[in-house]
Amino acid sequence: MYHSRISGVGYYVPERIVTNHDLAKIMDTSDEWIQERTGIQRRRHVDPKDGETTSGMGVKAARMAMADAGKSASDIDFVVFATLSPDYYFPGPGVTLQEALGLETVGALDVRNQCSGFIYALSVADQFIKTGMYQNVLVVGAELQSKGLDMTTRGRNVSVIFGDGAGAVVLSRDDRSGFGILSTHLHAEGSWAKELSVIAPGMGQRWVTDILADNNPLDESYFPYMNGQLVFKNAVVRFEEVIREALAANELSQSAIDLLIPHQANLRIAQFIQKKFQLSDDQVYNNIMEYGNTTAASIPIALAEAHQKGKIKEGDLVVLAAFGSGFTWGSALIRW
Ligand code: ACO
Repeated sequence: MYHSRISGVGYYVPERIVTNHDLAKIMDTSDEWIQERTGIQRRRHVDPKDGETTSGMGVKAARMAMADAGKSASDIDFVVFATLSPDYYFPGPGVTLQEALGLETVGALDVRNQCSGFIYALSVADQFIKTGMYQNVLVVGAELQSKGLDMTTRGRNVSVIFGDGAGAVVLSRDDRSGFGILSTHLHAEGSWAKELSVIAPGMGQRWVTDILADNNPLDESYFPYMNGQLVFKNAVVRFEEVIREALAANELSQSAIDLLIPHQANLRIAQFIQKKFQLSDDQVYNNIMEYGNTTAASIPIALAEAHQKGKIKEGDLVVLAAFGSGFTWGSALIRW
């Protein structure tokens, strides 16, 4: 059995900063409400004039991760791309990124697990490396959510939370045992599928033709729906469970954690988990204040930023954990 480790990290966020005060000009909300409930102060939204896409932002993050890893296009054996906001209904953005990076004909897999997407994608890449099938896998999480949000008062409980951006890692084969990805843990509970969802357009209930035929300006089916309190209650339980599961699987105690990078869903959720594991502020990396919730991109953006700021040292035990739509959740334990 081989081992895998993160050999390079990268991220990209659009230049356009949208503050809570900016949002308060277009919907009935306030900086105070948003900061108190979520910790978010500002987020990035693409500027429609720039023509940015989910895959395009993923390409920028991937280039940085490849440079950081010292890998060129010919070194990459496979791509895993996680997003809930793809460029097209199909094909997924993995192939667009593969073409843009000039990765010849290597396979490109798209992962649709929303906020847990990056952990799922990392786990898939880890399995391919551990079995010996591939040596270097590019794992990308990217989201362009701003185009799909209801930016009126009707959609305020969701639209103030989400932001755009991309993060990427190169996962590489490594011979040292006890280093790199120690384990990943994935879960789902489909009974809550609709509680955080965009149901249209989809073949299950409403396709584009149904929406056009109805021509109903009050139609909300193509905007995200979130039962915020239910998500919050489940998130705090599942985050804790899946981190404890990862520690137990590796016979480690919570005092072994050097850095926790939780999916940036809500600062209050991260603070709740921090307390549960008795971690200091230095041991939890949060950047939701700056970027909002960037879903599949949030963990790789935070990981790349934390690494860039020197917050991760060789030998550190790093925990990644996520919870989101599906419901799905997961964790990854990494010896850096
Ligand atoms: N500005 C001002 N008021 C608002 C806003 C807003 N942006 N949004 C909702 N409100 C109002 C509501 O209308 C409601 O008013 P009412 O009492 O007059 O009816 C009041 O605020 C309370 O609304 P709730 O939805 O009950 O607010 P809550 O305290 O639950 O906070 C929040 C909402 C922040 C979304 C919270 O539930 C939460 O963070 N949940 C977790 C969500 C999450 O983490 N999602 C991401 C994980 S999954 C993923 O990343 C895809």
